[in-house]
Amino acid sequence: MVLCFTLTACNSSEPASAPTAADDEKAAVQDKLSKTESDTASADTSEATSEDTSAEDPPESTDDVTNVLVAYFSRADENYNVGTIAVGNTQILAEYIAEQVGADSFHIETVTPYPANYDDCCDTAKQELADKARPKINGSVENMDSYDIVFLGYPIWWGDMPMAVYTFMESYDFSDKVIIPFNTHEGSGSSGTYSKIKSALPNANVLDGMAIQGKTAQALNSETQQTVRSWLDGLGF
Ligand SMILES: Cc1cc2nc3c(=O)[nH]c(=O)nc-3n(C[C@H](O)[C@H](O)[C@H](O)COP(=O)(O)O)c2cc1C
Repeated sequence: MVLCFTLTACNSSEPASAPTAADDEKAAVQDKLSKTESDTASADTSEATSEDTSAEDPPESTDDVTNVLVAYFSRADENYNVGTIAVGNTQILAEYIAEQVGADSFHIETVTPYPANYDDCCDTAKQELADKARPKINGSVENMDSYDIVFLGYPIWWGDMPMAVYTFMESYDFSDKVIIPFNTHEGSGSSGTYSKIKSALPNANVLDGMAIQGKTAQALNSETQQTVRSWLDGLGF
């Protein structure tokens, strides 16, 4: 199997945040999270009222109210360094993050699936990058307006994000939302993608994210879980 990418951007993370930047990022997340708490509290109040006035309409649980979404692109099948996998590397990470923060999730899947064969997928992805393609996505996020924080997950493909991630970013209004990128890769780190997300979403508050090797994400052992947990802790989750 031939490595279909050149490891030109081997930064495992983009410039480390100064303590003040990290504080700012945490404050931005906290600001949005406290919004959910107050929304939930007011939902609780209105439910109490409706319960008082209508015995036939039992209140819905607010336990699962969340203003956090984990949206991710991830491809299973044959991939570099992991063989043929049933669940993509980024998806494993995405599911863990969603579970840890109690978020909803959305899998960015293209209408036309990518080839299961690794080399064929590399060829398709290379052509899409050259064409600046915007592949169509299956389904959509219901009520994107209700999310204040969006974790955006993706693999590095040819030193960039899969083109479907651009389709996704261009499909919604992300103004004033906090965007938290995370990605998997096999050597390229984040490959400058945080800057690309910032350019694509100029009205959002795009934080610097977390990059994890795909093979490591696929195994998701306790050490890796701790790495992710610490990152989430640092953001105030
Ligand atoms: C089409 C394609 C292009 C890739 N290009 C790169 C790359 O430029 N740099 C890199 O580090 N890894 C590259 N990889 C490896 C993936 O980033 C890595 O396997 C990732 O964990 C896959 O995530 P997924 O299973 O969630 O799709 C590429 C993989 C594919 C299939």
